[in-house]
Amino acid sequence: MDIYEVFRKRHSYREYTDQPIPMDALERMGEAVSLAPTACNLQPFEIQVVVNDELRAKIASVYPRDWLKSAPAIAIAIGDRGTAWKRAEGNSILDVDIGIVLEHFVLAAQAEGLGTCWICAFNRAEMDAALGVTGTEKTVVAITPVGYPKEEKSSDQRPDRKPLNEIYRII
Ligand SMILES: Cc1cc2nc3c(=O)[nH]c(=O)nc-3n(C[C@H](O)[C@H](O)[C@H](O)COP(=O)(O)O)c2cc1C
Repeated sequence: MDIYEVFRKRHSYREYTDQPIPMDALERMGEAVSLAPTACNLQPFEIQVVVNDELRAKIASVYPRDWLKSAPAIAIAIGDRGTAWKRAEGNSILDVDIGIVLEHFVLAAQAEGLGTCWICAFNRAEMDAALGVTGTEKTVVAITPVGYPKEEKSSDQRPDRKPLNEIYRII
């Protein structure tokens, strides 16, 4: 699929079928993750695709939404504050790295016909504890369900975007 087609087809999906995801699709998506750029190529992340029922239930207890439970997999993006590159003034670049890496995963999922939905609105300490990411510099930055959407969305179901001339300029 052409990359612009992937951009147009991607939506945030909040309802999934229980159809399992083929392992070869998940493997190809792993290649997309590994090709993502990170600051100084430090790769301070791990993407875990959780298919285990017990772990998915734990994740859904921290971000309690029925639609999250409907997905056959949930990907979690764990960032490592200890190894991420820092600007000279000390700010960590971790969230930028994770943004790029998880979006590679999301777009690769779309190319495989799978739906996703970025989720950040969870309590990080609770999510870290639920997944056993504790006592380290690591933390869960974002998660996304992965699965076949119950109904594919059309472009008119996309939340409105700002006019292009407000957000993109060639100067
Ligand atoms: C960084 C980020 C965090 C988000 N967090 C949540 C979230 O916690 N829960 C949720 O339902 N959607 C979340 N979203 C999805 C946005 O609401 C969605 O991308 C936006 O409304 C545009 O819709 P679209 O993705 O269908 O184009 C998040 C998206 C991004 C990029």
